[in-house]
Amino acid sequence: MNNKISRRDFLVTSGLLAGSTVLNPVDGLKASATVGSNAEKLKVALVGTGSRGCGMWGRDLVKRYPAYLEFVGLCDINEGRLAFGKEYIGVNCPTFTNFEKMMKDTKPDLLIVTTVDATHHDFIIKGMEMGADVLTEKPMTIDEHKIQAILDAEKRTGKKCRVTFNYRYSPHRAKIWELLRAGEIGELTSVDFHWYLDTSHGADYFRRWHRLTEKSGSLWVHKASHHFDLLNWWVDSDPETVFGLGSLEFYGKNGQFRGENCRTCKHTKTCNFYWDITKNDYYKKIYVDNEKYDGYLRDGCVFKNDVNIYDKMAASIKYKNGVQVSYSLTTYSPYEGYRIAFNGTKGRIDAWIQESKPVNDANYDEIVLFKNFNRREYIQVPHGTSGHGGGDNLLRDQVFIPNTPDPLKQCAGVRDGALACLIGIAARKSIELNKPINISELTTIQPNVRKEYTL
Ligand SMILES: NC(=O)c1ccc[n+]([C@@H]2O[C@H](COP(=O)([O-])OP(=O)(O)OC[C@H]3O[C@@H](n4cnc5c(N)ncnc54)[C@H](O)[C@@H]3O)[C@@H](O)[C@H]2O)c1
Repeated sequence: MNNKISRRDFLVTSGLLAGSTVLNPVDGLKASATVGSNAEKLKVALVGTGSRGCGMWGRDLVKRYPAYLEFVGLCDINEGRLAFGKEYIGVNCPTFTNFEKMMKDTKPDLLIVTTVDATHHDFIIKGMEMGADVLTEKPMTIDEHKIQAILDAEKRTGKKCRVTFNYRYSPHRAKIWELLRAGEIGELTSVDFHWYLDTSHGADYFRRWHRLTEKSGSLWVHKASHHFDLLNWWVDSDPETVFGLGSLEFYGKNGQFRGENCRTCKHTKTCNFYWDITKNDYYKKIYVDNEKYDGYLRDGCVFKNDVNIYDKMAASIKYKNGVQVSYSLTTYSPYEGYRIAFNGTKGRIDAWIQESKPVNDANYDEIVLFKNFNRREYIQVPHGTSGHGGGDNLLRDQVFIPNTPDPLKQCAGVRDGALACLIGIAARKSIELNKPINISELTTIQPNVRKEYTL
């Protein structure tokens, strides 16, 4: 048996090139188990050494997958954060403030994109054009023109881009997918999905670059694209029409008073949102100490007048297979979590997840399965041990450990990345134009009755 994995095989077997098809599972698994110093490691470069780049896609990768990958380059426009990132991630590779120079000098097999959302498309496209496959954080990008440019670039270059929808990997959400696919509630007809962000994590979006639509695409794209991707995956069809409502009536211009950022504010004693970032050593090192390079304030005031995203959103979504969804996102709730219900011809699935301030200390999440004319069934799904309900590790293992199978179709490619963003983009447009928006009018992607698994 050949115990050397070529870089191309690595990408194939980890789903980047061939997706969920495991080409040679047994050989691949044996090969990966015996991978040694003579094995060719995946050459990885990363752009965006902020919090996500340093942690989930930086230090954690170095710790978890030393046999499979090596970092060959790091890039960020903030040279201070770049230097911090190199030390925090724990690598010796060169660092760059010029992206193209990094790509030319290091020739990575895989580029990881963890920059501000509005810049993702630039790196995804240039990365593929310069010979790399790409792994991008969600949202893939923020508007329909950038989506089209990414779709075109993937076709033109023959390279692949994978979108890291970690929410799909939490055991609780995976169990829901299994129940739906097993036909436990018959034909799915509608979904009620309501997500609540609390006054801590929810407010945090209004402190950061996320508060500007031009950087994040608004929470319709930055945050809700996670939820829309879950819906697309659960419903197993493509979204067809979206009608949206939204307003900004709590944060931003609605505050009684405001400052520039918490550290310099004169309202610290009276403001419920006062937060001393300097008490967190990591945040101080990664953000505060590097403000001098770009002026970015991580502890910005949630009541700044420049906030131009919605803080209350609702959408009606119709899927090509006829499923209807009622969705809402509230950003100033006393607890964080969601309520979801799936209505089918033979029953209903209910779940209520409190991610902050849970009602009990149980180490499981519950799903209630109701079958028409039958007793209800309580299904308890143990929590995963890594971030995002255990999803983060499962996602990373699937990307980097060769031959990890994909029975639940959790790998997501550009079509999935695009459709998740397109619902939010359509909702945004719907609010502006006060009319329903057809997904088919936004890009060349035409909705299918059955979901097309692109990876
Ligand atoms: N999947 C998840 O659950 C999850 C969680 C957190 C963040 N994210 C995603 O990760 C990405 C990064 O988020 P974050 O919280 O780390 O933000 P951050 O602000 O901490 O980091 C962004 C980094 O990008 C750099 N940057 C911005 N523009 C750049 C450019 N043109 N060239 C090079 N570098 C540039 C910034 O200097 C900063 O270091 C976002 O797209 C976000 O949506 C996903």
